[in-house]
Amino acid sequence: MEECSFTSWYPRFSRHSVESIAIPIQNDVLTYLREGTLILPKEAVPPPRQRSSSSSDWSDSDADSDEAEQPSFPAFSAQLKDAMNQLGGEVFIKTNWSAPKDAKWIATNKSLKCRRLEEIYLLLKSSDFVANDLSYQLEDGQSSGGSGYYVVLKQWKDIHPGTEYRCFVIQNQLIAISQRDCTSYYEHIQKLKFEILDDLVQFYRRNIHKKAPLETYTLDVVREGRGRVTLLDVGPLTERSAKTPLFTWPELQELLAARSPPQPASAGGAEAAAASGAAETPAFDPEFRFLGEDPGLQPNQCQHFGVPFEVSDLCSMQESMSIIEHITEAVRQQNGRTEES
Ligand SMILES: Nc1ncnc2c1ncn2[C@@H]1O[C@H](COP(=O)(O)OP(=O)(O)O)[C@@H](O)[C@H]1O
Ligand SMILES: [Mg+2]
Repeated sequence: MEECSFTSWYPRFSRHSVESIAIPIQNDVLTYLREGTLILPKEAVPPPRQRSSSSSDWSDSDADSDEAEQPSFPAFSAQLKDAMNQLGGEVFIKTNWSAPKDAKWIATNKSLKCRRLEEIYLLLKSSDFVANDLSYQLEDGQSSGGSGYYVVLKQWKDIHPGTEYRCFVIQNQLIAISQRDCTSYYEHIQKLKFEILDDLVQFYRRNIHKKAPLETYTLDVVREGRGRVTLLDVGPLTERSAKTPLFTWPELQELLAARSPPQPASAGGAEAAAASGAAETPAFDPEFRFLGEDPGLQPNQCQHFGVPFEVSDLCSMQESMSIIEHITEAVRQQNGRTEES
């Protein structure tokens, strides 16, 4: 759904969201990202280790054959680097729709934090979520040589999953809120539920209500403390997409129906609305659901994406190195061998 793509909601809500930069993906980069092979662009691979000065066999033909194998996107890579620098050096990346959460296993410390070009390329190339986003043929953007897709870099933020919430907005009404990570019980949510609800409702009313590109959507937010709410993402809300374990689609519809008075507001309803100071914003609080007790071990959506055996074997040899360092080292060694042959 185009309205939920990052580039359509972010300009409206940038003040309330995490500082981000969207970089258009040109067609040649898109082709590269869609290919199954995992070869990093030249500029994303650290240079081979210094050779001894006696090696005089650096010939142009060797360099040429390396270049032919390794793709290179100097302009795009430079944009990624600039954006990383502007955002403070540590970033979270996604396409204009999805983050590569399934590729966490490949990243340093199993985190999605990127500090280097190769980490960005590796995550984009290793994620099925990203591959799925990039598999559609988009109509716009063709004329500018762009593909219509973007890589979005966001300033890195250490986010505790227990501080994330999903808000369900239907027909411009905040109907329901749930904790975002439904695999765990968080004691603080139980304790602070009134404060949390109040903060999220205020955030929605002040900053989002009727300003979103759609009438029905989800908002993902993080609440770091009293009154400190930040928007992380906007998503579609349809029967198919409403997969949150704490609310089913029919329940959301029932909650919506319960709010809409069958007659044009009764006298009491109108007074209540007037008293709240916003005739268009009903004074109803949304339904807030969270886990009230420890659910035990729960399946995690991304848990089944793991390290392939070959990679696991490779890494068990030198456990102090990250997977990226292993792969970079393997590429370095391969390059070294090509040069020596
Ligand atoms: N700027 C950020 N820094 C660090 N982690 C982030 C950042 N933005 C989002 N996250 C984490 O990544 C998760 C997924 O982000 P999100 O943008 O909602 O992607 P998706 O739509 O693919 O789920 C969030 O729930 C949050 O935990
Ligand atoms: Mg999302």
